[in-house]
Amino acid sequence: MRVGADHEFHDEAFAKEWAERFVPTPERMRLFDTIAAELRAAMPSGGVVVELGIGPGYLATHLLERLPGIRYVGLDFSEPMLALARERLVAYEGRVDYRQADLVTQAWWTMVPQAADGIVSTWALHDLGDPEHTRSVYAASRRVLKTGGVFLNGDFVKPDGSRHDYEPGRFEVATHLRMLEETGYRDARCLMLLEHELDAPTAAQNYACLKAVAGE
Ligand SMILES: C[S@@+](CC[C@H](N)C(=O)[O-])C[C@H]1O[C@@H](n2cnc3c(N)ncnc32)[C@H](O)[C@@H]1O
Repeated sequence: MRVGADHEFHDEAFAKEWAERFVPTPERMRLFDTIAAELRAAMPSGGVVVELGIGPGYLATHLLERLPGIRYVGLDFSEPMLALARERLVAYEGRVDYRQADLVTQAWWTMVPQAADGIVSTWALHDLGDPEHTRSVYAASRRVLKTGGVFLNGDFVKPDGSRHDYEPGRFEVATHLRMLEETGYRDARCLMLLEHELDAPTAAQNYACLKAVAGE
């Protein structure tokens, strides 16, 4: 069995269907709550948060509502996803900017505010399809973050002890943490594992909340 999924994020109908199918569940809300709590503890009110792969804007809504001082930049390569996010976040106009960029093929880090206080991402970086792409995003994010800024990635992983084959973008927590330490972060750790399922995992299970702090 191979755990993973194929996506057509540039297709409008696919993007809409994805957004309807993946309205956040209570477990995903736990992930969003954890990210909100970490940002609240780590950054000044009025700080800047960049989200990589904003999709339909579910995490963004959660954070903008709970952290009233923050300014937000949502990045995605999919115009249909950015349109859904704009629609969902209309109440936060003035606090949110959008960037269309590909995290693999474009210098996206030059298109977002420098010295950001936080960079967040959920269910997105595994879609880059190769651990080396994830490593490059970790390194570029470190350049964007101010020293002491926080990086939070809630993404699908390959659970330890799995006997199944996972798509290449889903790999072990220990490898993520090592990559973070190697690309300029300190205190890299896994805050939680969600919907842990070893025996018969679906593509929407086994995600982790990884945290690291931008080092000197
Ligand atoms: C599975 S969706 C998750 C959306 C959202 N983060 C959430 O948790 O609801 C992944 C998102 O990442 C975006 N994405 C995938 N590959 C990307 C890339 N190479 N560059 C920029 N965005 C990408 C997709 O367009 C999509 O919006």
